[in-house]
Formats: sequence, structure tokens, C-alpha cells
Amino acid sequence: MDIGGSGIKGCLVDLEQGRLLGERIRVETPQPSLPASVYAAVAEIVTQFEWTGRVGVTFPGVMKRGVAHTAANVDKSWIGTDVDAGLDALIPGTVETLNDADAAGIAEMRYGAGRDRRGVVLMLTFGTGIGSALFVDGHLVPNTEFGHIQVDGEDGERRASAAAREREDLSYPEWAKRVDRYLDVLEAGLWPDLIIVGGGVSKKAAKWVPLLSTRTPVLAAELQNDAGIVGAALAAHERRDG
Ligand code: BGC
Repeated sequence: MDIGGSGIKGCLVDLEQGRLLGERIRVETPQPSLPASVYAAVAEIVTQFEWTGRVGVTFPGVMKRGVAHTAANVDKSWIGTDVDAGLDALIPGTVETLNDADAAGIAEMRYGAGRDRRGVVLMLTFGTGIGSALFVDGHLVPNTEFGHIQVDGEDGERRASAAAREREDLSYPEWAKRVDRYLDVLEAGLWPDLIIVGGGVSKKAAKWVPLLSTRTPVLAAELQNDAGIVGAALAAHERRDG
């Protein structure tokens, strides 16, 4: 399951192949996106699949031991909320929660553009915000929040997210300049060996990735919009005993 600011999506996942099994179900995120209504939407989708096994759930904020610590693009009442407990009340004994970009990164590292890549790999997801997932020799450093580094006095994601491109009606070359500047600042503090760019705009990677002037190689994510769901399922499967 993938909880986002605009949609809540779920699907069964084939973990051998790292892809969705059949059609996913998507509902609009209730507005305001209060925890109780979001839990109900997640539980409803799980019920529609008649699924009783483990459920991985992504959240677009810092997630530590089941508790949400930030909520940049969803209702602020999530901050400090025990998401694991809230979901467990509706779908008992099944839930594993994690940050959405961490989930997407886990999936890309296992099945996609980061397969077999050692060293420092940074996955960035461009959507409503900018999510980040950092890997060292394939191991995740959880809850990095590089969408919020300051770029020319502003939150990085405010200027360079996919939502900023749409909001300000930027062409791909115009937006690529913003992303380039954002990556400059990121690269000044971190020397990754590879950057993987994901989110819906990764489908259009040919229009903007070649315009970037980073010293780090940049690859488009291969799982695109399914990465979050696939990574959530993988985390739920692999962390079942821990
Ligand atoms: C949040 C991150 C999240 C990203 C993508 C950011 O605003 O702070 O936790 O991963 O958006 O949804």
C-alpha cells in the first residue's frame, strides 16, 4: 500500500519478479487527509483484495518504529501519530510501515536501476515533494530527508519537485535547471556514486536527465510509479521477524 498526498494505492505484489500482480486499486486521499479516514481507506483496499497476509504501507514522512514524525504534504495531525497501531486496529497483525521514498528505493535496489550496485547510491523521487533514500553497499540509511535541504534560501522540494514544475507551468528544460541546482547543493554535501531519479517524471527522463550537469551519473528509475508499492511489500516480507 502506498499512502500519498493525492492518492492511496494498493496491489498484490509478485516478489519473485518485483512487479505488481494484476490491477492496482487507487482511491483519492480523503481531504483533509486525517489519519482515521486514511486508515479506513487502506483497510478497505486490503479487504477488496481479500488479503490476510502481511501488508507493507508507505507514508510520505519520517517513520520510526511505526510512528510518523513529519508530514510535509499531508495533514499535520499525523505528526506523532502511531500509524502502526492505527492500522493494526483495522487489519490486525499484518502491518509494516516505512517512508515512501525508502520503499521506492528498496524496490529499485532489488529489481531496478540499482540492482547489484555497491557504493553510495541515492534514490530521489520527484512528486508532490522530493523523497530520498540513501544506500551504502545496498544497505538503506532510513529516513533521509533531502527534499528539505535549503537551496537558495528555499526548501529544495518547493522549487524542484514535480509539483513545482506543474504549479509553475515549467517546460522540462526550465525545470531541469531547477533540478540541476538542487543536485549541485546535494552533491556539495554528499558524494554519491549513483543517483537514481524516480516518481512519475521518470517516465519522461529523456526530456530532462540528459540536461543535468551533475558529476554523479544519473539513471532513471525502472519501476517508476510502482516502486513504492513493490518496496512496501518487500519490506513487509523481509522484516516479518524483526
Ligand atoms: C517528505 C518525505 C517524503 C517525500 C516524498 C517529503 O516532503 O518530507 O518524507 O518521502 O516528501 O513523499
